[in-house]
Amino acid sequence: MQSVAPIQLIRHRSGAPGLRLGLGPDLRPVGALDQLQRLLERNSFWARGRSHAALRAMLRGSAAAVSVWQGRQLVGFGRASSDGLFRAVLWDVVVDEEHQGRGLGRRIVATLLEHPRLRRVERVYLMTSNSAGFYQQLGFETVSSQQLMLKQQTSG
Ligand SMILES: CC(C)(COP(=O)(O)OP(=O)(O)OC[C@H]1O[C@@H](n2cnc3c(N)ncnc32)[C@H](O)[C@@H]1OP(=O)(O)O)[C@@H](O)C(=O)NCCC(=O)NCCS
Repeated sequence: MQSVAPIQLIRHRSGAPGLRLGLGPDLRPVGALDQLQRLLERNSFWARGRSHAALRAMLRGSAAAVSVWQGRQLVGFGRASSDGLFRAVLWDVVVDEEHQGRGLGRRIVATLLEHPRLRRVERVYLMTSNSAGFYQQLGFETVSSQQLMLKQQTSG
């Protein structure tokens, strides 16, 4: 019987230089950007159609990023923006459908919250359309005293 590779979480430095270079666990080249693009295409509705160049810019501009690997396969991702002290926002938390329901989403969020750029931040925000229950289990609350405001600047 073929053995299943263990799951490995990587907490990236701000800007995730390794992922931008296409590296995976043990800093080996695994086409990480290609894999990230496919993961988002397959498992999100909001982050489809992002080019390599756009993903690179997105990672460069992220305060924290976490990737999850089974062997050389990317099976989960999450990222955050943060000022390091007052406010942070979680973005693009995704677990590949074949790996959902095994606690990986919870580990991604926990690892982002423990990241040096997030762990002292006063308030952490996020937006979700269909996973509020998931985030409630992790201590997030629905806010009714504030409104989500949006200015659409491009078609993305
Ligand atoms: C939402 C998502 C990240 C959760 O990841 P996951 O690895 O499947 O979640 P976990 O296994 O860590 O689940 C932790 C808990 O949350 C619950 N949960 C998971 N997804 C949920 C959802 N959409 N709504 C309510 N509860 C959910 C699980 O049942 C589990 O509860 P338990 O501990 O009582 O069993 C994953 O399902 C996903 O990628 N979905 C598609 C993309 C998406 O919608 N992302 C959210 C962006 S805002």
